Amino acid sequence: MLVSFKTVLDMAEKGNFAIPAFNVYNMETVMGVIRAAERQNAPVILQNYSRLVTNEEGYFLAPIIIAAAEKASVPVCYHLDHGASEVEVMRTLRYGATGIMIDKSALPMEENIAGTKNVVELCKAVGVEVEGEIGHVGSAANGDEQTTEYTTVEEAKAFVEGTGVTALAIAVGTAHGRYKKAPKLAIERIAEIHKNVDVALVLHGGSGVPDEEIKASINAGIRKINFGTDLCYAFLDQVFATGRDKVGIDLFMKDAVEAVASFAEEKIKLLGADNKA
Ligand code: 13P
Repeated sequence: MLVSFKTVLDMAEKGNFAIPAFNVYNMETVMGVIRAAERQNAPVILQNYSRLVTNEEGYFLAPIIIAAAEKASVPVCYHLDHGASEVEVMRTLRYGATGIMIDKSALPMEENIAGTKNVVELCKAVGVEVEGEIGHVGSAANGDEQTTEYTTVEEAKAFVEGTGVTALAIAVGTAHGRYKKAPKLAIERIAEIHKNVDVALVLHGGSGVPDEEIKASINAGIRKINFGTDLCYAFLDQVFATGRDKVGIDLFMKDAVEAVASFAEEKIKLLGADNKA
């Protein structure tokens, strides 16, 4: 069933686990994640990058996500990831999203707060909760996980008070993409922020983070973890391994859908979201 962002975040808070949020790109990746969620009886978030709604793809992808979520036997939220501007936010709301992330973290703090607050107000008008970001989670390709410029408790408090967000992405040692060296997370900092703000904390850049670090981050208070890159690798590795003798595209894609499903099942269990639907 299609549910709100708040619904899945509350489930995670009550059950002391993290809701897995998978970036999806096409019908097959949606099918793989839904299959995993149903097999593991888990609530999940399906999210798409902002560029997919900046461009034409979202127009076709969003109805697939909505149909899949509505048909699923488990709670599914449809979320915008790293919303680039109000345009992408409005578009995704029109497509039926039940959660929104606006990412103005590259701007100075005051502008980030003002811009995020504006989106929170817009979304409130249609009953949708918002994720913001304070402290920039960079890219592994630039070695950004090596930075020790973590989000501070003061920044997190000021951001939450100033914006009214429901979820907060923080910089605590992860980066997007493939790491050159496994990251070490600032677990103490997560725990301090968790103690001081009353919103769901989000970890971006979940691909390649060692299992023990993921578990420690959840114990410290992380309630949503994003996986993008490794889902793509699971899908693409299988596509490249599938022989050219399968010509019907649906038949060709079967193994790739299953590869996404087994990747997602592994992460669902790691995050403790199995049997929490
Ligand atoms: P990865 O691609 O590193 O898993 O990050 C995904 C993410 O955080 C999406 O916002």
